[in-house]
Amino acid sequence: MLLGPFTQLLTLRNMPLRGALSDEQLEVIPYAGVMCDEEGYITAVGAYNDLQAHALQKGIKIQTLVEPLVLLPGLVDCHTHTCFAGTRAQDFAMRMAGKSYLDIARAGGGIMNTVRATRKISPETLKELTRTRLLRHAQEGITTCEVKSGYGLTAESELKMLQVIADLQQEGLGIDLVSTCLAAHIRPPEFTEQLFYLDYVLTEILTEVKYKKLSNRVDIFVEQTAFDTDNARYFLQKVQAMGFDITVHADQFSPIASKLAVDMKAKSADHLEHSTEVEIAYLAHAETVAVALPGASLGVGDKFMPARKLLDAGAILAIATDYNPGSAPMGNLLLQASILAMYEKLSSAEVFAGITYRAAHALGLQDRGVIEVGKRADFAAFRTDDYRNILYQAANNKVYATWSKGVMRQKA
Ligand code: NIG
Ligand code: FE
Repeated sequence: MLLGPFTQLLTLRNMPLRGALSDEQLEVIPYAGVMCDEEGYITAVGAYNDLQAHALQKGIKIQTLVEPLVLLPGLVDCHTHTCFAGTRAQDFAMRMAGKSYLDIARAGGGIMNTVRATRKISPETLKELTRTRLLRHAQEGITTCEVKSGYGLTAESELKMLQVIADLQQEGLGIDLVSTCLAAHIRPPEFTEQLFYLDYVLTEILTEVKYKKLSNRVDIFVEQTAFDTDNARYFLQKVQAMGFDITVHADQFSPIASKLAVDMKAKSADHLEHSTEVEIAYLAHAETVAVALPGASLGVGDKFMPARKLLDAGAILAIATDYNPGSAPMGNLLLQASILAMYEKLSSAEVFAGITYRAAHALGLQDRGVIEVGKRADFAAFRTDDYRNILYQAANNKVYATWSKGVMRQKA
């Protein structure tokens, strides 16, 4: 099948994995097309006229698009908590009234509020709620989305969450899901010691996750109100020995986890709002991707992570929504990325890289994030004739359609 013509097609191919990028490094093909095979992989990309001639000659189906469109690789949101029940509007009101995120957590609210609601809900209702959020994500151009557990904190409820994510992946929503077990989100009150709970996670939850093949990724929240660095190191060493990839909620309020994430060769260290020059230096040459979560800065009214400094130092930077009921309730990857770009002075190239191939790298996925022969036919088409408008008009981004493995989903 041939898709096109697109007014502009940004391939994002042949770009460096790490460090700063300028827009001149973007490959922009004018009046372009892309071809894919029946399995949903890209077979050609280039000038539309050439591809059209070839398609006509070989009798290849053409999906003709008539309006001005800019095509990007399908967007990748590499950090979300979209599987949850209940609301935290009350937390939000308390924060607006001056209470801090950590104070609310210390008082037994925050994440525990969502845990109580998520434990109670049936798998069917949880699936419905999560599906709705993911479909909204798909409408916003996202074709790959990471989803964490972490609001169960018992074997039964964590497995319920991961099973819901697995079922939604099976449904095929036009958005490919990558699940992560975040049972080590916080210590639930039923356990008096962090280590007792982490041992329970290792023996009762992760062994099941592995056995049922529900996820191959494990996350931990390292923070004053969650797990300390030493306990997290103990836990992650065991987790790694079990064969899981790891990722860390790091330096959100205290700079205590970047070094651990880098030492442990975590796939990513996410948040980093309170990383200092020391942590930036750790991440600068690391394999670990630094993931910016601007929605969490906005949601708790805190500063943005030092994205500009990290890029200039040579780090691999991705941008994700952290979509969750507490710290980052807005979703909307492009709006968040656009806001981060304005405050941190990021180029379009740096933002697009951060929500495509660099975000895919954070998930350990090499088969997507660029428009190149052999990669998945995952695309997002925007209703504009100039790629620069995508961030410029972020709050009003108009996705025309997405394709997941070559299957089109038009925006409603
Ligand atoms: O990424 N920081 C820890 N976890 C989430 C928040 C979860 C919540 O507040 O429900 C985050 O910000
Ligand atoms: Fe998070």
